[in-house]
Amino acid sequence: MSKYSQDVVQILYDNQPEFVSGQTIAEQLNISRTSVKKIIDQLKVEGCEINSVNHKGHQLKQLADIWYQGIVEKIVDAQGFFKETFVFPTIDSTQLAAKQKLVGNQDSLLILSNEQTKGRGRFNRPWDSAKGKGLWMSAVFRPNVPFSMITTFNLFMALAIRETIQEFSKDEVAVKWPNDIYIGDKKVCGFLTEMSANSDGIEAVICGIGINMNQEASEFPNEIAHRATSIFNHSDEKINRYEFLKLLLENIKNRYMQFLTVPFESIREEYIEHSNIWNRKLKFTENDKQFPGKAVDIDKDGFLHVEDEQGEKHRLMSADIDL
Ligand code: BTN
Repeated sequence: MSKYSQDVVQILYDNQPEFVSGQTIAEQLNISRTSVKKIIDQLKVEGCEINSVNHKGHQLKQLADIWYQGIVEKIVDAQGFFKETFVFPTIDSTQLAAKQKLVGNQDSLLILSNEQTKGRGRFNRPWDSAKGKGLWMSAVFRPNVPFSMITTFNLFMALAIRETIQEFSKDEVAVKWPNDIYIGDKKVCGFLTEMSANSDGIEAVICGIGINMNQEASEFPNEIAHRATSIFNHSDEKINRYEFLKLLLENIKNRYMQFLTVPFESIREEYIEHSNIWNRKLKFTENDKQFPGKAVDIDKDGFLHVEDEQGEKHRLMSADIDL
């Protein structure tokens, strides 16, 4: 990729839906028109839809399935919540990067990558993070709250992610307590929340979010194909990652403000309504123990109340649930 391709894409994006002549771009970047032409051709190969018309110039119709740093920053800055943004073409894991970036820094951060080579989920399970197919992101928050409040953070985030995916899906999107989002009986998103703390309190909460946006059903690896889906599989069109990111960040900000200001109780009904674990037989794994049972309630602290087949009650803070 030419070092100017980010700039060219930025100019086209800023001028949308107008045409920008090759000459104007060349002058702005102090490069030749031939270089501009080469970069535009390369952007088209990458997947950008650019309408090039003689004597008019170039008009950006659609960005490629790539995060362009400048455009992501524009969206993040316009929204005004995250203070610093890092965009990687490829990385081992945005979650690992987030943990490195938060050191010596007090700000809320956002880390995105086009692909991850060592994406990890809960219980250190590998997380498939194919290039250009999904949203692989970690967000660092700096809540000034007691430890006891952190148990409900996930529940607020789950609603933010669920409602965003719902805007793009024709089918019902549901939360599977505590960390998954489903469409039908397949997982479309997994997220995890980690915390960095010292004796003074919480230093940061790091939320890693993986959302399958544009995979075809046949593109998932065999091991997960039977239980994974993408938003695209439930939509008439490809998901525009920038539109999606914009809405997700808005919903995350709103739900985070809610988390800071109101108890879980005030969103409990909404959470219950959008959960897919009620009235069905489930298999719970808590630590190393597995047992069948059913979910009966979620309490004001976000703990799940479960009844096993012997009628014994369990109050779970976290668990792995098989539908
Ligand atoms: C799960 O379902 O177990 C949670 C999956 C979380 C995956 C995301 S993708 C972005 C961030 N980076 C990682 O390595 N993991 C999280």
